Amino acid sequence: MDVVQATNTEAKQRVQELRQLLQKASYAYYVLDSPIMEDAVYDQLYRELQQMENQYPELLTPDSPTQRVGEKPATQFISVRHNIPLYSLENAFNIDELKAWEGRWRRQAPNVGEVEYVCELKIDGSALALTYENGILTRGATRGDGVTGEDITQNVRTIRSIPLRLNVEGVERLYATSLQRIEVRGEAFLPLEVFKQINEERQKAGEVVFANPRNAAAGTLRQLNSRIVAKRRLDFFAYTLHIPGRDDASIANTQWEALKLLQQMGFRVNPNHKLCFSLQEVAEYYKYWDTQRLNLPYMTDGVVVKLNSFKLQEQLGFTQKFPRWAVALKYAAEEAPTRVENIAVNVGRTGALTPLAQMRPVQLAGTTVSRATLHNADRVAQLDIRIGDTVIVRKAGEIIPEVVQVLQELRPDDAQPFVMPSHCPVCSSAVVREMGEAVTRCVNASCPAILKGAIEHWVSRDALDIRGLGEKLVHQLVDREVVHSVADLYDLTEDKLCELERMGKKSAQKLVEATAQSKNQPWSRVLYGLGIRHVGSVNAQLLSEKFPTVEQLAEASQADIETVHGIGEEIAQSVHQWFRISANQTLISRLKDAGLQFASAMEATAVSHSHQKLAGKTFVLTGTLPTLKRDEAKALIQQAGGKVTDSVSKKTDYLVIGEDAGSKLAKAQELGIPQLSEGELLEMLQD
Ligand code: IVH
Repeated sequence: MDVVQATNTEAKQRVQELRQLLQKASYAYYVLDSPIMEDAVYDQLYRELQQMENQYPELLTPDSPTQRVGEKPATQFISVRHNIPLYSLENAFNIDELKAWEGRWRRQAPNVGEVEYVCELKIDGSALALTYENGILTRGATRGDGVTGEDITQNVRTIRSIPLRLNVEGVERLYATSLQRIEVRGEAFLPLEVFKQINEERQKAGEVVFANPRNAAAGTLRQLNSRIVAKRRLDFFAYTLHIPGRDDASIANTQWEALKLLQQMGFRVNPNHKLCFSLQEVAEYYKYWDTQRLNLPYMTDGVVVKLNSFKLQEQLGFTQKFPRWAVALKYAAEEAPTRVENIAVNVGRTGALTPLAQMRPVQLAGTTVSRATLHNADRVAQLDIRIGDTVIVRKAGEIIPEVVQVLQELRPDDAQPFVMPSHCPVCSSAVVREMGEAVTRCVNASCPAILKGAIEHWVSRDALDIRGLGEKLVHQLVDREVVHSVADLYDLTEDKLCELERMGKKSAQKLVEATAQSKNQPWSRVLYGLGIRHVGSVNAQLLSEKFPTVEQLAEASQADIETVHGIGEEIAQSVHQWFRISANQTLISRLKDAGLQFASAMEATAVSHSHQKLAGKTFVLTGTLPTLKRDEAKALIQQAGGKVTDSVSKKTDYLVIGEDAGSKLAKAQELGIPQLSEGELLEMLQD
């Protein structure tokens, strides 16, 4: 055979080998928690696979480990109907209620004797329904209302513990059945550590924090930009396996076996499930996990008790809302009453004024709680919380405490309503609350509170990463008026630093060095470090790729900025406005003089090259395109240097056609103008 084909066969083999290796490594790392290779080795193999797939695009498949994060953010999610509805569970809050549940199902099945129960932890996240066809993940959907959910496949693919390809060969061999289509259900959740980290970042960025990991997981799953989802490190525990025709009982007869099967297929199954032979054993399991759950790295709010036998499950069936064969045995959320002694106001990095309830200390979930954020003036009004009120605070596990209720009947006559101050409690300048915004802000750029936050953000790990400049030191620098702007950090000398409290010569020297080092950080990090509202590290990366120099970004119109995929109107407006403020222009010029990176050489050539791709070409669009909106297609063509006009003429180079193309198509055919589908257009842009 000729050489090309031989090479292709070799390439195919190597690609398959690499995928298998990477899949195994990923499974060991994310599902089994026991890595089988060094990160560096994994990275090297991953890069090799990426290179091969670039070289042989015909070998690319959607289940390749390189295809977890899609390039293009979604514009919206499509509604999907669940083939089998996702039921919720009936709650029981104590052992008596558990016994009552048993009584109910036994009345339905009076002849059943002793039974087995499977106890699982109830993971506090967001339910997902995953469809696999011939072993490949084809759809991931949210629960929605149980009947209709949303197709969030692109985001589901970023969850590393969800296999893109099932390990079905072994299973099929074992059961001599082909698993053409299966549905797996389970809970997507955020590990507590990640939840904490996200909230810290949101707080720093002046955004409202998530109240609990469940909201954070649900919010993350509905993010349109899957790159952001990938950064959030969601995880997944599988708990239900639906195989059409499972009643032939050749595959799994029980929930216990189904959990085993899910594991064999490559899913992460929560290891703490237990087979119980009496309600007494179930009660012991429930009691054990009441305290032990606080040591888990994720949130659980109860135990799910399921009858093990599928036959019995089928016999019992469902009520309108719940299966009769399962119950959620919940732990009471940790709540306690306490008195609000004051409502203070905190000023954050972006100038956001946050009301903070200061309460008589109470013990909750093993910690002392004396403060709870009230988020904003709207939330205060909604709760109708006043100084002197008795309130119920809730805290579960490591979750930030929340005021959930005001006990109106205990309100003293002298309870003081909260009024959002008209002036900043830190710098006394007037505050503003824009129309349609929940947040009240101090807008004085030199407000010490804002400046402190701005510096802490500038030096943080994902920004300029200047080690040795902790919170206390930042406060000293601002309070002693040594630093009035981020740019002043670059004028700090060892002598100046040594005048500060608890600052030795060695630390001062190290800090000056670290500050100087930060001048090598790339433009994307500098952009993130500037702390422009809504510009987190992912958006900064996206913007810096499209605008390789600060001048290009500063001069871009809001519409230009919006052409970046993943950057919506709100972000674009925030960036555009930021560059119009003269204090910010001065800051940029001072930082430039100090030697910071405001351009990226490599990105500059890459982008200018991409501008050439469609240079001089004129396009006309007609009909509805399968995925791109008209404006998006137009923006893509323009970004690559092409022109888009409304009507077909001899000057038109290409007609891009979608569904229901009208008279423009006839005209183009008449003039012999080449036609492109959306796919062909995208290929052209990628060439
Ligand atoms: S079984 C029909 N098992 O709890 C069976 N659910 O309150 C329904 N959940 O919507 C689900 N951990 O999102 C099941 N081990 C577990 C679970 C679990 C968490 C969630 C699930 C469900 C909700 C019901």
